[in-house]
Amino acid sequence: MRKKVVAANWKMNLTIEESIELLQKIKNHINIDTKEVVLCVPFTNIYTCKEETKNTNIHIGAENLYFEEKGAYTGEISSSMLLSLGVEYVIIGHSERRQIFNENDEMINKKVLKALSKNIYPILCCGETLEQREKNETLSIIKNQLSKDLINVTKEDAMKIIIAYEPIWAIGTGKTATSSQAEEVCKYTREIIKELYDKEVSENVRILYGGSVKASNAKEIFAKENIDGGLIGGASLTEEFIDIVKA
Ligand code: 13P
Repeated sequence: MRKKVVAANWKMNLTIEESIELLQKIKNHINIDTKEVVLCVPFTNIYTCKEETKNTNIHIGAENLYFEEKGAYTGEISSSMLLSLGVEYVIIGHSERRQIFNENDEMINKKVLKALSKNIYPILCCGETLEQREKNETLSIIKNQLSKDLINVTKEDAMKIIIAYEPIWAIGTGKTATSSQAEEVCKYTREIIKELYDKEVSENVRILYGGSVKASNAKEIFAKENIDGGLIGGASLTEEFIDIVKA
């Protein structure tokens, strides 16, 4: 049985004060052990969020990392830095990083390998644009992204990765993929993992859906056979996140 994961992606939101305020409102309601609850927060908020969630089942993750160990990379954050803060998960290859910051699959692959080498669980994002969907390219885009992003990832490490299918046209737009559209791609993603690895990995890897998940649609989406939870943006910044975790 795959354990469900509900992960928040705060993106570039919430100051220290605002994150404490939000956590104080939600932490007792999302402190459950039947699901893995992960809050991926801005680098500047990690320490505070770790402190605020001490002695709970809530895990703290980062939203990015750099693949080099250390050195002259002004403005970047290394995996060792994250590890020293107690970070357990890291979002890699989010479409905003791919599109706004020009991250390509080669960089994403290096980041995935780096995170795994430090035992930080990657939440690896993939997804298509509206144009690609309309041209019927969704499945080939996902296959192309994942096969490049997972180069040299061993079977043992592949089991630790959480994949998030996030159609770009559904992110922050209020336009959610229907539960059957999301299921179709997540099911296909599992088949790709089977092709790249084997049945065992494909049956164990967790695949999330992300893109305008709200309290009102979470239950239906999370109930799908191949969807093991969600990666939540906007709705993770308010108390609505409690209802999504409970969905
Ligand atoms: P929204 O939930 O705001 O659409 O964002 C989804 C997302 O990008 C999560 O990583």
